[in-house]
Amino acid sequence: MSESGLLVRKIKEGTVIDHIPAGRALAVLKILRIRGDEGIRVSLLMNAESKKMGSKDIVKVENRELKGQEVDLISLIAPQATINIVKDYKVVEKRKLVTPKMVRGVLKCWNPTCITNNDPEAVSRFTLISEKPLLLKCNYCYSYTMEEQVFQQILGE
Ligand code: CTP
Ligand code: ZN
Repeated sequence: MSESGLLVRKIKEGTVIDHIPAGRALAVLKILRIRGDEGIRVSLLMNAESKKMGSKDIVKVENRELKGQEVDLISLIAPQATINIVKDYKVVEKRKLVTPKMVRGVLKCWNPTCITNNDPEAVSRFTLISEKPLLLKCNYCYSYTMEEQVFQQILGE
C-alpha cells in the first residue's frame, strides 16, 4: 500500500486493527460496539490491497484500547489480524492474533436448552474444533456452533 500512497492517514493515539480478512471490518466494529455516535474518530478501509492477503480490511480507532473480550472475539473472526497500539504516531506494540483453543463467556451456545442459556450464573465455554471454517463445541451440551451462527450473533441478525 505504501507505493500507492496512504488511503487513510496515520493516527496519533489509539489502536489499528490490520490484516482483517476482506469483508469482516463491519463485524469488527460490531464487536467493538462502535456505532458512530460515541464521538471517537474511527477510520475504516475495506478491500485494501495487501501483499500477504490479496485484499484486507483495516479499522483504526483513535484514543481507545481494546478489552480482553473484544480481542477474544476478533481473534475468532479474524485470526490473522494484527492489533497495533499507537502512541504519539508510533506503533509501540504489535499483537499477532491466534485463534483461541478455548472460548469463554463471549459467545452464546446455539442450543436453547443448554444450561449456559438457562442458568444465569453459568458461563459459556467452547472448545475450538476447526478454525476455517470456524466450528466450536459447547463444553456443557456438546452441541456445535458454526461460523455462520457466530457471525449472526456478532452482527445481531
Ligand atoms: N498506523 C497508523 N498510524 C500510525 C502508525 C501506524 O494508522 N501512527 C497503521 C499503519 O498504516 C498500518 C498499521 O498501523 O496499517 C501497522 O503499522 P506498521 O507496523 O508501521 O506497518 P507494517 O510494518 O506494514 O505492519 P505489518 O508488518 O503488521 O504488516
Ligand atoms: Zn451448550
